[in-house]
Amino acid sequence: MQGKRILLGVTGGIAAYKSPDLVRRLRERGAEVQVVMTAAAREFVTPTTFQAVSGRTVRTDLWDPAAEAAMGHIELARWADAVLIAPASADFLARLASGRADDLLATLCLATEAPIAVAPAMNHVMWANQATRANVAQLAARGVLVLGPAAGDQACGEEGLGRMVEPLELAEQLAALLAGGGELAGRRVLITAGPTRERLDPVRFISNRSSGKMGFAVAQAARAAGADVVLVSGPVSLPTPPGVTRIDVESAADMLAAVLKELPGTHVFISTAAVADYRPVRAAQQKIKKANDTLEVSMERTPDVLATVAARPERPFVVGFAAETESVEQNARTKLMKKNLDMIAANEVGDDKAFDSDENQLIVLARGARYELGRAGKLALARGLVSLIARELAARADRSLRGTALA
Ligand code: CTP
Repeated sequence: MQGKRILLGVTGGIAAYKSPDLVRRLRERGAEVQVVMTAAAREFVTPTTFQAVSGRTVRTDLWDPAAEAAMGHIELARWADAVLIAPASADFLARLASGRADDLLATLCLATEAPIAVAPAMNHVMWANQATRANVAQLAARGVLVLGPAAGDQACGEEGLGRMVEPLELAEQLAALLAGGGELAGRRVLITAGPTRERLDPVRFISNRSSGKMGFAVAQAARAAGADVVLVSGPVSLPTPPGVTRIDVESAADMLAAVLKELPGTHVFISTAAVADYRPVRAAQQKIKKANDTLEVSMERTPDVLATVAARPERPFVVGFAAETESVEQNARTKLMKKNLDMIAANEVGDDKAFDSDENQLIVLARGARYELGRAGKLALARGLVSLIARELAARADRSLRGTALA
């Protein structure tokens, strides 16, 4: 990140004591760092500390005429190559999500076109609160990169998810973001997401509870890792992650057609969609009338998109998902073998699990490897999954190079 200009926002939380170290880590990598503090942040650390480590006057106030004369806030918003808010308090996330401009830092976030990353830090109950979850989901959907939080001991004496990611790791993640050459740079990734709808008649269909959140998070994570991403989505109400090409489809048959069309040149296929397994043999041309006490609908199997891709001779690296209500790992392993996949991510689904939730938990199985991605936000899990895929791809390339060398 040599010469990159980082605007570091510090908000009010005890983790602010780690932010001067973050400034040093960013500067070690050659970045210029301009610190902007909220009023609450100044209750924890003084501007003098940040001035000493950043070598620049710290900005704290939207209404400071001298500072504004030197570099106005709009100019400062344009100056930044990236904005990192660390720590990002629950209050700041709420203000950012609702687009407030009630202090200098919030105004800068609204006025900048640079990528924004936030490193949340707060008590674990505050992090788990529905309001915070909704704010974070909204920010992530708008393309804000959410780094963490990490789990562990908290300053309040409790334990859980809410610690700020360590400065060294934050500096590395930001460097990767700015370099643009992420783990999947140069790869084309094709992803399916959401449910499918199978028509019964012109006004009715059979579908399922999939929200598409996991698939959209995987698309966002793959894009952030530098991939060229195509997302084939069933009907969902989610915004397209920035930089991702989206193709909307309705039925399993439409999804298969779109996937086969997009497949050439694809390096990785990730099948997160909850494709309907059966469809009505015939969709009625007119609305079905309630003529009888019971209604029988004859159903037939839909095409299996994932198995079709995995069976192609020129196939990409194929990743499936397994949604299970019982014997999660065992059923996933069977699907890995039966559908001839390279990797499968298994999760438990049920009334209150996984579907439409912002959180999830995954067991990832590859040929000869097993990983656990513990309970976390779907974007954090998606990032973990993308890293595992990148690692497996790199290991394959390495094996095939060694194979060539030995031959
Ligand atoms: N899948 C697919 N096309 C289908 C059915 C499933 O592409 N017609 C994919 C899903 O996207 C997922 C994987 O297959 O990656 C497993 O889906 P899941 O619903 O867990 O299993 P099924 O294969 O449908 O088997 P079952 O419903 O019997 O568990």
